[in-house]
Amino acid sequence: MFSLPLGDDAHLGPLEVWHAEEFAAHLDRAREHIRPWVGAGFVTTDVDGARATLQRYAERQAADGGRLYGIRREGVLVGGVMFTDFQAAAGFCEVGCWLEPSAEGHGLITRACGVLLDWAFATRGLRRAEWHCRADNDRSSAAAKRLGMTLEGTLREVWPYEGVRHDKQVWAVLAREWLRQTGS
Ligand SMILES: CC(C)(COP(=O)(O)OP(=O)(O)OC[C@H]1O[C@@H](n2cnc3c(N)ncnc32)[C@H](O)[C@@H]1OP(=O)(O)O)[C@@H](O)C(=O)NCCC(=O)NCCS
Repeated sequence: MFSLPLGDDAHLGPLEVWHAEEFAAHLDRAREHIRPWVGAGFVTTDVDGARATLQRYAERQAADGGRLYGIRREGVLVGGVMFTDFQAAAGFCEVGCWLEPSAEGHGLITRACGVLLDWAFATRGLRRAEWHCRADNDRSSAAAKRLGMTLEGTLREVWPYEGVRHDKQVWAVLAREWLRQTGS
C-alpha cells in the first residue's frame, strides 16, 4: 500500500472503509475543532458515521469521482485531504482538508494538497482546481494562498452554521499556473 512522506514524521496514505475505527477515534480528537469549517455530514459522532463517510468516498472513487486520503504522523491519523469533487471530463476538481489541532502549523496540508494537485494536473490532465472555505476561516484561506491559488470570489451568506449565514470564498489554481510554479 502506498505511503508518501510529507516530512515531520508524517505520511499521506489510504483512508478506506476498513479504517473506520481509526477514523472515528481521530474525529473524537478533531470534531469540535473542525465543526464550524467543514460540511455537517463530515462531522460524525461514532464508528458507523465514520464508516459511512469512508464508504461514500470509496463509492465516489470507484466512479472516478471524489477521493479521500489520510495524514498520519508517527503512525497516528491526524487529518486528511480530499477531492470533494473530481470531474475528469469537465477538467475540474475541488480540494478539501482538515487536521486535528496538534497537527496544525507544520505545513502538512500544503504538502499533502500539493500531492493531490500534482496528480490532478500532471497525471490526470485537469485544468482547474478549486478550494472553498468560510470567508472567516483564516487558516484555510492562508493554505489556499500558500498553494498559489487566487481568490476568485465570495458567495454571500451561502453557508448556514448555528443560525448565522456565513460568506464562502472560492479560490482556484489553473493547471498552467500550478505547473509553472512547481516547475513540472
Ligand atoms: C485549515 C487547516 C487544515 C490548515 O492547517 P495548517 O496547519 O494551518 O496548514 P498547513 O498544513 O499548510 O501549515 C501551514 C502552517 O505551517 C507552517 N509551516 C511550517 N513548515 C511549513 C512548510 N514547510 N510549508 C508550509 N507551511 C509550513 C506555516 O508557517 C503555517 O503556520 P502558521 O499559520 O502558524 O504561520 C487547519 O487549520 C484545520 O484543520 N482547520 C479546521 C478545519 C478546516 O478549516 N478545514 C478546511 C475547510 S475549507
